[in-house]
Amino acid sequence: MSLTPVFLDELRARTLLSALVGKTVKLTKAGREFKGCCPFHSEKTPSFYVNDDKSFYHCFGCSAHGDAIRWMTEQQGLPFIDAVKELAQAAGMEMPAQDRQSVERAERAKGLHDLMADAAQFFTDQLNGIAGAEARSVLEKRGIKADTARTFGMGYSPDSRVKLREELKSYGDPALIESGMLIKVDDKEPYDRFRGRLMIPIRDARGRVIAFGGRVIGQGEPKYLNSPDTPLFDKGRTLYNLDRAAPASRKTGRVIVVEGYMDVIALAQVGFGEAVAPLGTALTEHQLERLWRLSEVPILCFDGDSAGQKAAIRAALRALPGLAPGRSLRFVTLPEGQDPDDLVRARGPAAFEALLEKPESLVDRLWAHEYAAEPLDTPEQRAGLKRRLMTHAETIADPDVRHEYQAEFRRRIDDLFARPQRDFTPRQFTPRKPGTKWVPPLPPATSQAKAVRAAGIDRLLAKAVLAGLIRHPAEIARHMEVLGSLKLADGALGRLFEAVVDLALEDRALDSRRLITILGSSGLGQITTDLLRADATPYSFTQDGAEPERASADLDEAIAIMVARPEVDAALAQATSELEISASDEAFQRQMELLREQRALELRLANLIQANNDA
Ligand code: UTP
Ligand code: MN
Repeated sequence: MSLTPVFLDELRARTLLSALVGKTVKLTKAGREFKGCCPFHSEKTPSFYVNDDKSFYHCFGCSAHGDAIRWMTEQQGLPFIDAVKELAQAAGMEMPAQDRQSVERAERAKGLHDLMADAAQFFTDQLNGIAGAEARSVLEKRGIKADTARTFGMGYSPDSRVKLREELKSYGDPALIESGMLIKVDDKEPYDRFRGRLMIPIRDARGRVIAFGGRVIGQGEPKYLNSPDTPLFDKGRTLYNLDRAAPASRKTGRVIVVEGYMDVIALAQVGFGEAVAPLGTALTEHQLERLWRLSEVPILCFDGDSAGQKAAIRAALRALPGLAPGRSLRFVTLPEGQDPDDLVRARGPAAFEALLEKPESLVDRLWAHEYAAEPLDTPEQRAGLKRRLMTHAETIADPDVRHEYQAEFRRRIDDLFARPQRDFTPRQFTPRKPGTKWVPPLPPATSQAKAVRAAGIDRLLAKAVLAGLIRHPAEIARHMEVLGSLKLADGALGRLFEAVVDLALEDRALDSRRLITILGSSGLGQITTDLLRADATPYSFTQDGAEPERASADLDEAIAIMVARPEVDAALAQATSELEISASDEAFQRQMELLREQRALELRLANLIQANNDA
């Protein structure tokens, strides 16, 4: 008997998952399932479910998912084969003899490696052949050079259920199924897993292909299909591009973690060879350990949207137990809705390098997150902030680092609340730049301040954005969609806005000087001059001589905030009136969530101003 899928299925079937998981996690019955607090992320209300019928567990909070074997490898940290052994013993199933088994395992793995290498070759040939025309044009559209595609071994899986199976039939169906390349359902014929997709081979630390990611060509679901976990591939222990990033990181002294493999490839193409990506899941402790072997302080890049920010916090919390003197994480937040691939394509490697140069530290990240998480108006709420921060610090295993975090949080809290309450000023919170002294933020906006904001700032922001666009007309085209749908209340300002957008659309190469001249000759000279003179608006993009990349990034951010704000405000008004009608927990939660969003937008805007004052 060897470890065939049949054996493993039998093993799963004979293992009562809830009993296994229940040894570590307190489970309670919930309908046909069990639920408990997820052991893979920290939570207070249970979102972790175990289903004995289907033999899997799933967490709705962090998407941890797996079967009994997965549980043993992920949660108990056992190697695959040991996990199987332990489960087999518990289930009263006999394992193959020790020596025979290890020989078999080695042989099987070798066979699977050959199989994967042949599959990769087949996909590459397809990409270069007739069937690959569409995939090649996708690559071209994305700006991926043929050379890069070759370096990363990219390929194309033909839109067929049988082609790969036929090509690799000498390996036999069982091996093809075990490798994840074929899917077998019940007693039906096995068929090709990857069909009509752009194929990206996933390599292990030694550069051998162990799995594939397949991207749909054009639209479709799922966008990416990955190999399942196999004897060669363990998603939670693999980092995409580790084999190439390791030597590159030794040269640059840093390692960059991004969210997608297309990001890794796009970055490598423009000179950032030291980037890796997890495979569509949150970073595991194991992956963090790997990263720390490459660099003391890996840089994690996340999207500025709420999903990205959640992922950043999850990574931050997961890293805490593993911190050591000198060993930490740094965070880079990308402009909302842009991943590194989009960013370098739109604005070149320098724009990305500029972001890498001012990452946020782990301690600042945690502080900013908890600071913005809840209101801080009452003593209880302020104590809550302290409690949350201290709870995080307690998870740090290294005593020296733990004490430093506790002391730092205490200092910040003292600074924050010892200050006399001041009137509104939008300078609330600044992520500290490396090498500068930490300046305690001011307390959150008072209700009075909120009224001020509601009445005036949106218009001010719109004016600043308009001034910024006149100074940087090249940016207009990139924001066409949002700008087109914006309604400015003020008549004269509105006309200017439309004129600017129209002119920029007609002539994409229009520079600021010419734009101003044309506006002058269309009777909009005075208002333009007034607007540009009002450079009291303290943003980089409304000032002469600002660094163009910086101005462009700040303008992006300002536009995103300008667009998001009325939406959040309107949703909040709606939620508030709903709450008045039905005082349900749900309506309350919704209102809290929106208040938090509103506060987060305020902080982002304050950051733009603050960052500029610092510069
Ligand atoms: P993204 O959707 O951000 O991918 O997912 P991307 O790289 O920006 O994709 P493009 O630019 O549209 O091609 C990031 C990562 O999440 C995983 C993949 O590993 C992907 O690289 N993912 C995403 C999946 O596994 N499945 C999906 O359906 C989507
Ligand atoms: Mn992308």
